[in-house]
Amino acid sequence: MSVQTDTSSKVTNATLKLMKEGGEKIAAMTAYDAAFAMVLDQAGVDFVLVGDSVGMVVQGRETTIPVTVDEIIYHTQLVSRGLSRALLMSDMPFMSYSSPHDCLSNAARIMKEGGAAMVKLEWGELEIDMVRRLTECGVPVCAHLGLTPQAIHKYGGYKVQGREAAAADKMLEDAAALEVAGADLLLLECVPTALARQITENAKVPVIGIGAGPDVDGQILVLYDVLDIAPGKRTRFSKNYMEGSNSIQNAVGKYISEVKDGAFPTEAYSFN
Ligand code: KIV
Repeated sequence: MSVQTDTSSKVTNATLKLMKEGGEKIAAMTAYDAAFAMVLDQAGVDFVLVGDSVGMVVQGRETTIPVTVDEIIYHTQLVSRGLSRALLMSDMPFMSYSSPHDCLSNAARIMKEGGAAMVKLEWGELEIDMVRRLTECGVPVCAHLGLTPQAIHKYGGYKVQGREAAAADKMLEDAAALEVAGADLLLLECVPTALARQITENAKVPVIGIGAGPDVDGQILVLYDVLDIAPGKRTRFSKNYMEGSNSIQNAVGKYISEVKDGAFPTEAYSFN
């Protein structure tokens, strides 16, 4: 039985690594409450992210920056009540990991009070050190590279990252350094397909993409984009699975099966 078809046992960090080794695609989505978490879990999603995208799609804000640790803990608690099988990952919000003390104490709160099994940090010059410190304390970590929305005011817009040779080389180096520091998962957002493929081939840990093409170990999308109910303009890399589906359950199921059999993402949802 493949790891992915064993729907009875809980997905762990080790399961995701086995899926990469076995060439099984990992299907992930965001959720922010128990009802949607249950729908995703029953449909067979492998991990659920309580993303700081909550700030944009639930709170109606323009960026993820105002989201607080307390809000992430609250939504993590809600989501954890809806999950039986999927692994639960939560974002560390903007500036909640900018010193070793804050990083460790906020990660501890998200795990102890929220119930997360893994935390996600966005790339910055401090991230490698923070990943190392979290790893030393036994905290499973996902490192988010490419377009990191918490740095939106630095970028001046949501743009594809790693197109120029120097930026691509830097991302390859950073991905390798994050893995050495102990990252359990890498997440690439808005990265050209060829660069994402190279990072995935080099990495021993699973690489999850969002707008990073088909040649990564798994995909994640924001639930409200999949359901086409996110406020504002839809991102080019997200697909509306409500089109042609007669229920939310069908839409989620279709997303998962397209990720598992490699039908999503096509070139239309990827970048060169
Ligand atoms: O916050 C979020 O939803 C995310 C995804 C874009 C991966 O980080």
